[in-house]
Amino acid sequence: MKVKCRINGENYETEVEPRLLLVHLLRDNFNLTGTHIGCDTGHCGACTVLMDGKTVKSCMVLAVQANKAEIMTIEGFSERDGELHPIQRAFAENHAVQCGYCTPGMVLSTHFLLMRNSNPSDSDIRNAIEGNLCMCTGYVNIVKAIKSVAASREPDGQSLENR
Ligand code: FES
Ligand code: FES
Repeated sequence: MKVKCRINGENYETEVEPRLLLVHLLRDNFNLTGTHIGCDTGHCGACTVLMDGKTVKSCMVLAVQANKAEIMTIEGFSERDGELHPIQRAFAENHAVQCGYCTPGMVLSTHFLLMRNSNPSDSDIRNAIEGNLCMCTGYVNIVKAIKSVAASREPDGQSLENR
């Protein structure tokens, strides 16, 4: 079946088996390997991407369901000059990354949270990342990183949505 979608602002098109999962479409067909596969069963959140503005676990979505969708993956975050996105910078500065396996999914879930809530409490943050498991750092520094990026947003709240 044909799949046509926009990923990180660029058009992609290919033919896939109907059973192909979105995470494999991204990684294997389009070489967007920043989206990780942890469990392949919808539990770990490593494969989280934004699809039409909402987080999805891409191992739980068929590639054909992404037809005509707008997808954002971790590759859409860094600037072309290699500059880190404020969320990525906050994770690095707050030691919220160890092996980095969970990080792309954490960053996408953080972005989704901050689009809806510019001043999240600790419990808002913990609820927002409840579907993202980290086996290395624990969650204290991840929550600290998310709080710090929320605190540094511009007053109009636009600084992250427009990236
Ligand atoms: S790989 Fe998709 S939730 Fe774990
Ligand atoms: S940093 Fe290793 S799983 Fe989160």
